[in-house]
Amino acid sequence: MNIVILAAGQGKRMHSNLPKVLHPLAGKPLVEHVIETARSLEPQRICLVHGHGGEAVRASVDAPDLTWVLQEPQLGTGHALMQALPELCDSGSTLVLYGDVPLIEVETLKQLVHAARDGLAILTVELDDPTGYGRIVRDVAGLVARIVEQKDASPEERRIREINTGIMALPTARLAGWLKRLSNDNAQGEYYLTDIVGMAVADGVAVRTTHARSASEVRGVNSKVQLAELERVAQRRIADRLMEQGVRLADPARIDVRGELVCGRDVFIDVNCVFEGRVVLDEAVEIGPSCVLRNAQIGAGSRVAAFSHLDGAIVGPDGVIGPFARLRPGTELAAGVHVGNFVELKNSKLAEQSKANHLAYVGDAVVGSRVNIGAGTITCNYDGANKFKTIIEDDAFIGSDTQLVAPVTVGRGATLGAGTTLTRDAPPDTLTISRVAQVSIPGWKRPQKARK
Ligand code: UD1
Ligand code: CA
Repeated sequence: MNIVILAAGQGKRMHSNLPKVLHPLAGKPLVEHVIETARSLEPQRICLVHGHGGEAVRASVDAPDLTWVLQEPQLGTGHALMQALPELCDSGSTLVLYGDVPLIEVETLKQLVHAARDGLAILTVELDDPTGYGRIVRDVAGLVARIVEQKDASPEERRIREINTGIMALPTARLAGWLKRLSNDNAQGEYYLTDIVGMAVADGVAVRTTHARSASEVRGVNSKVQLAELERVAQRRIADRLMEQGVRLADPARIDVRGELVCGRDVFIDVNCVFEGRVVLDEAVEIGPSCVLRNAQIGAGSRVAAFSHLDGAIVGPDGVIGPFARLRPGTELAAGVHVGNFVELKNSKLAEQSKANHLAYVGDAVVGSRVNIGAGTITCNYDGANKFKTIIEDDAFIGSDTQLVAPVTVGRGATLGAGTTLTRDAPPDTLTISRVAQVSIPGWKRPQKARK
């Protein structure tokens, strides 16, 4: 089997500099969804017909298994398939997909290909409002006679509600003969692929139809409105799959997965969370409302509270993160670590049971076990040109409002008094403090505003 993905159309109604098929759906370009579905059918060839913005498309989705076919200018769907013809293997069927119909399902395509085993098969669907689509015209016996495009259809034909989704499977050996006979003598002056259907009927080739399971799987994207509508359909599919695997979602309509979300048992996800890249939530993880997790891994039993932002972070089991925590790339937390509100961690490791519960910046640091990082602690890791490391050993206690001017080490069991600016290493099991002696000035008067 060959698969040809038509993706040369301009997508004018997107009003965008980005080629239509590169617009993201669930975090992935539209055409990438189609390519992945195509791959799972294991065809001999996948041809991608590109035109407008082709170089950009190629740059972002190129893969060794794709055969690129340029269609320039774009003279219609039949003309597009003509360009791919030299690349097709002669035997079997050629399945035509659209690069802007991203949610087509593998099972639906398998049925279609099966129906085309000794002929031609068209994927159709009945719509309450078929406006704009090609209509399936049947004879008195109910057999397909031809497809007529909206712009060429008579008033009676326009009343037909069964439409051509554009997805069809054709006998490859017949294609060359049929495509040669296409003409552009029609309302749009285009070479219509759909005209092949009438030719097949005239040639005595079996023409069958199969139906899409839902109208949404055959919906195309022509505008930003349709893109947003399909995004919700895609997200609902993902949400349903997660729930079927045992994830509890506070509201399946308020989750956005733009990549891969892998969940263990009894995970709970509250409303308005966004997951990007690859995110792994182990058993019994709870994600509070309005969190963003990107390329993150959360250990079993950990809780991420509301409004936390995690990017490139690994959280161990039984952690408590947020609310309002920010974990940046290179953050690695061992079991039972607590990271509270307005704490930013970057490229830092915290060992078991350590805590940074309020208002801190910890960057380029290695923190031992059972360390307490007080409110207002800052690792001064950057001198404007270079970054330096802070090491805090096990059981250290960092008092509030402390600056650790890296490179610096806080020894095991050391205590830093509140307000310390640490510029040299703090010895283990010792109180280190840098603080201006406190004075009170008797008789001092606060300045007064002059009276008029
Ligand atoms: C086409 C069908 C119509 C069907 C509808 C479903 C034809 C003549 N008509 O109409 O029966 O109901 O799709 O959406 O086939 N493309 C190219 N090169 C071209 C023209 C189009 O690659 O020269 C690609 C587009 O990128 C798109 C697909 O083919 O992915 C369909 O093109 P579009 O212009 O949307 O076709 P319609 O006129 O909507
Ligand atoms: Ca279309």
